[in-house]
Amino acid sequence: MNGRELVVGVTGGIAAYKTAALVSRLVQAGAGVSVVMTRSATKLVGPKTFEALTGRPVGIKTFGPGAHPHIELAERAEVLCIAPATANILAKAAWGLADDLLSTLVLAFDGPVLMVPAMNTRMWQKPAVQRNVRQLAADGVELIEPEDGYLSCGAHGPGRMASPETIFEAIARTLATAKGE
Ligand SMILES: Cc1cc2nc3c(=O)[nH]c(=O)nc-3n(C[C@H](O)[C@H](O)[C@H](O)COP(=O)(O)O)c2cc1C
Repeated sequence: MNGRELVVGVTGGIAAYKTAALVSRLVQAGAGVSVVMTRSATKLVGPKTFEALTGRPVGIKTFGPGAHPHIELAERAEVLCIAPATANILAKAAWGLADDLLSTLVLAFDGPVLMVPAMNTRMWQKPAVQRNVRQLAADGVELIEPEDGYLSCGAHGPGRMASPETIFEAIARTLATAKGE
C-alpha cells in the first residue's frame, strides 16, 4: 500500500468513530489518505481527528478553497472507500445525486468504489435501501455487507459496519487488482 493514494469518505453513521482506526491503519501501511466528510459525519467525529491521522486537510465543502476540490480529489485517488455509508449516501449514489462534496466526488471519480453500509437493522432491511444496494452493485460498486451483531441503538441484528480490518483487506485487494498485481 506504500505510496498509494486513497480517498476515504465518512458519512453520518455512528460507526464513523471506527473509521478513525481504519484511516490510521491505512496511513501506517504507507498510503496517502484524503478524508472527505459529510456535514452529518462532522457531528459524530471531529474533522481534526482525521486531519491529525492523515496529515491532510479534511474535505467537507464543495465551494471551499481550491477551484474544484471534487475534481482534484477524483484525479488523485486510486480507490474511493465510503465507510460508514449511510442509507442516505447509498440512495444518493444509486440515483446519481450530487449535492455535497462526497456525493459529487462519487460521480467525478472513475476508479473502484467501495461502500461499507452501516445502519439500524430496520433501515438496512427496508426495501428502498435494499433496492439501492442492488442498483449500486449493478453499477459496479463493491459493497462490504454489514455484519450481524450489537448495534449502538441497543438492538442486535444485521447493520453493524464491517470491522476496520475487513475494510482494510478489501481496499488492499482492490488496489492490488487495480495495479494488476
Ligand atoms: C446519533 C446518530 C447516529 C446515526 N447513525 C446512522 C447510521 O448508523 N446509519 C445511517 O444510515 N444513518 C444514521 N443516522 C442518520 C444520518 O445521520 C442521517 O440520515 C443523515 O442525513 C445522513 O447524512 P449523510 O449521508 O450526508 O452523512 C444517525 C443519526 C444520528 C443522529
